[in-house]
Amino acid sequence: MSPTLPAAPPPDIEQRINALLAKMTLDEKLGQMSQATGLAVPLSEQNKEEIRKGRWGSFLNAGGAAERSEAQRIALKESRLGIPLIFGRDVIHGYRTVLPIPLGQAASWDPELVQAGARVAGREAAAAGLHWTFAPMLDITRDPRWGRIAETLGEDPLVTSRLGAAMVRGFQGDKLDAPDSIAACAKHYVGYGAAEGGRDYNTTWIPEIQLREVFLRSFDAARKAGVATFMSAFNNLNGVPTSGNEFTLRQVLRKEWKFDGFVVSDWNSITEMIPHGYAADEKDAAFKGVRAGVDMEMVSTSYHDNLKALLAAGKLDQKLIDDAVRNILRVKFRLGLFDKGVPVAAELPAAPEEAALGVAKRLATESLVLLKNQNATLPLAKSIGKIAVIGPLANSPVDQMGSWVMDGQAPEVRTPLAALRERFGEFRVAWAAGLKTSRDSSHDGFAEAVEAARGADAVLVFLGEEMILSGEAHSRAYLNLPGAQEALVDELAKTGKPVIVVILAGRPLTFQNVAVRASAVLYAWHPGTMGGPAIADVLFGDAVPSGKLTVTFPRTVGQVPIYYAHLNTGRPPSESELGIPAGTPVDPKGFTSKYLDVDFTPEYPFGFGLSYTSFEYTNLAISTPQLRTGTRIEISADVANTGTRDADEIVQLYMHAPAGSVARPVRELKDFRRVHLKAGEKQRVAFLVGAGDIAAYNATLQLVAEPGKYQVWIAPDSVRGAGGEFTVVP
Ligand code: GLC
Repeated sequence: MSPTLPAAPPPDIEQRINALLAKMTLDEKLGQMSQATGLAVPLSEQNKEEIRKGRWGSFLNAGGAAERSEAQRIALKESRLGIPLIFGRDVIHGYRTVLPIPLGQAASWDPELVQAGARVAGREAAAAGLHWTFAPMLDITRDPRWGRIAETLGEDPLVTSRLGAAMVRGFQGDKLDAPDSIAACAKHYVGYGAAEGGRDYNTTWIPEIQLREVFLRSFDAARKAGVATFMSAFNNLNGVPTSGNEFTLRQVLRKEWKFDGFVVSDWNSITEMIPHGYAADEKDAAFKGVRAGVDMEMVSTSYHDNLKALLAAGKLDQKLIDDAVRNILRVKFRLGLFDKGVPVAAELPAAPEEAALGVAKRLATESLVLLKNQNATLPLAKSIGKIAVIGPLANSPVDQMGSWVMDGQAPEVRTPLAALRERFGEFRVAWAAGLKTSRDSSHDGFAEAVEAARGADAVLVFLGEEMILSGEAHSRAYLNLPGAQEALVDELAKTGKPVIVVILAGRPLTFQNVAVRASAVLYAWHPGTMGGPAIADVLFGDAVPSGKLTVTFPRTVGQVPIYYAHLNTGRPPSESELGIPAGTPVDPKGFTSKYLDVDFTPEYPFGFGLSYTSFEYTNLAISTPQLRTGTRIEISADVANTGTRDADEIVQLYMHAPAGSVARPVRELKDFRRVHLKAGEKQRVAFLVGAGDIAAYNATLQLVAEPGKYQVWIAPDSVRGAGGEFTVVP
């Protein structure tokens, strides 16, 4: 009797890939490298035939759950090798339950909550038969003219890294092949947010030291978090489009980072290398895309149309094709698509889950940033009499959801007006839009709005940008409030009533003229499905605002780019000097890096946000004055809640290395933490710092913590805080 042999372990993924690859025809390989949109509803005969032939490896933003299920059944059961499709979709900030836009989520500085939001989105998307989201968007930008700032997590690499990695974990769950996990996608790789002039798709020139120091870090963080895919971008980076850029796609992503998932191009970005002036024609574009390492081509068909001829002409190494297909199959195996069988098309539940709405509301609440609160105008007393709600954005579900929303359900959006009326009743809450839309320049609705304000004890004005002014291809040369919104506030202010302004927007706006007339200003971004209840909770004190900006707000668009981690220059302005400098070329008093006509400082700095209480930062201490390589030091300070409300505070750790082989920014964020402090409570907040935390690229691109004196702050934002210094010794 032969001993029972132990069951052979299942072939591992690499073995399964090799076995499958060996059977694939060239056409089937090129099919895997091709992604299309356009699944007909119901599937057309052409769809079915192409899927049977293995013409496509993936579909994006196509069909509904039923079509995806039928398409997958055909791929698994009727194609020659049964290779499953992977369905992708832009689930950027929520699927059905819409979360605040990422720039709003970022203001929470709350990785756990951001991860929970992505978990909700991933679960809802997976239930609809989706396998893959084109998120998180990890671009860094310092330019609010760029419409896609709405999708970013702001200007800082550390915040973007931590929150971006949290989104990856949220989408992908603990196991990528779990039924409620979807693959994430680190995009747009890389440097897209540095578009010249803030004009979308424009050229980017980024020196390698800045590319590594600022723009690549968040993508490396996503890779470390296990992101399954990357997406190349539209922009030309230092002369070479990122969808054909061997330095970023091969040298950095594969050789240095050892990334083994797959790279998808952005929409037509392979063939856009022709207008970029980098590819002569589609054949050249296909060659340069594959050579650089873009594994799957989104929408354009240059791979399918040209790679066979390039191979036949001996101009392309078959290994490049096989490697691309391996990367794609590896993710499909990791997702369990070969083993999950034919999905059952799940019907959308009648209503979103309460738990999902709860996460969306918490995120919306924590995303709100209180920018002004004169004489503690807020929170309003619930006993207040009549409330006038003014402005078109007080009751606009589609705008409240923000840009990049494909599956959000407008009827499920809780607007501020609805939330306030639910609490206080229709009689106590008067409503006058005043303007038809945020772009409306007519004053026809002003009288009704002023009338409502006159009869109220508090005037809540909802201003900002419609969502159509935000997002991809929607850059603006001006950042002011569109339409006649400022004029409307002028008229409301004349009533003498306290005017409380709530701004819904997809970017930092410039609104000084409104802010000076307002008793309070709350920035709400585009807050998603639960924005109304979140705003109502904060306005009436059921929640204390804790949000802080992750992007600098300029006073005027003329200051852009303006950001906190800037270099000091050789002539830093000593204070906010306006006007013509007193000096002359022979006696250059006041010849410093400032403007004649605008204070050079931002309107609201990075990291800024008010609360309903106050905090004091004192007694910074450093465990040892010297940090030796290989050791760590503790930097701590007292943070006291000196007000009357329990509240959360986002404590930030900044550093500055005043002298080194390259000049360093005046401040760089090195860590942050949310702490909860009861009224009157003081906590000792401590951060552990090692050489690795402060390492930076030196003049020869080595990542090192250079010896010398470092300044450090534990702070409420990027301009204040308790300071100290320590020395790094070799
Ligand atoms: C768009 C965007 C990208 C998106 C893709 C698919 O052009 O640049 O972010 O994921 O195409 O919709």
